[in-house]
Amino acid sequence: MPASIRPARRGCIATLKGARAPSAGVPHPWLAVLIPLVLLTGCGRKPREYPGRALFLGAFCVQCHGENRQGTKQGPPLKQLTRYWTAESLLGYLADPAATVETNPRLKDLSYLYPALMPKFNMSDTDRRELVRFLLEVDE
Ligand code: HEC
Repeated sequence: MPASIRPARRGCIATLKGARAPSAGVPHPWLAVLIPLVLLTGCGRKPREYPGRALFLGAFCVQCHGENRQGTKQGPPLKQLTRYWTAESLLGYLADPAATVETNPRLKDLSYLYPALMPKFNMSDTDRRELVRFLLEVDE
């Protein structure tokens, strides 16, 4: 397989973007063959991708929590979150982190270790739910 159509780390979307003709800006005619092929062979067998992963990478979470959720000087690691959170409680926290910190002693202690509080992000309910699913179901 040429490098341009090798499945990319972040999944099928990146794969298809990478397969565009660089100069013309118009997809090659062979994409009509290639896309179903890639979907059948590579992407079809991939483990389920979480839309929340892209949100996590795109919404600045990585700046403080790290690309692999390993934590940075600005924010704690985001691992084994099911020990502390249900989907509902985590939704509530993401909707209003500062208010939750006030009522949650563990988070309050955690917040003292970092220079700034976890900010509040404006996003749709759907996006927040996807983010929560990714945070609770994926722990790599
Ligand atoms: C400016 C840095 C910063 C950014 C950006 C940030 N966080 Fe945080 N986050 C923190 C800090 C600091 C804490 C510790 C508790 C607190 O301050 O609320 C935290 C705590 C958390 C926790 C709870 C961790 C635990 O141990 O229970 C989760 C979950 C979380 N963040 C998710 C996110 C997500 C999702 C995003 C992106 C939408 C994000 N954070 C963006 C700094 C950040």
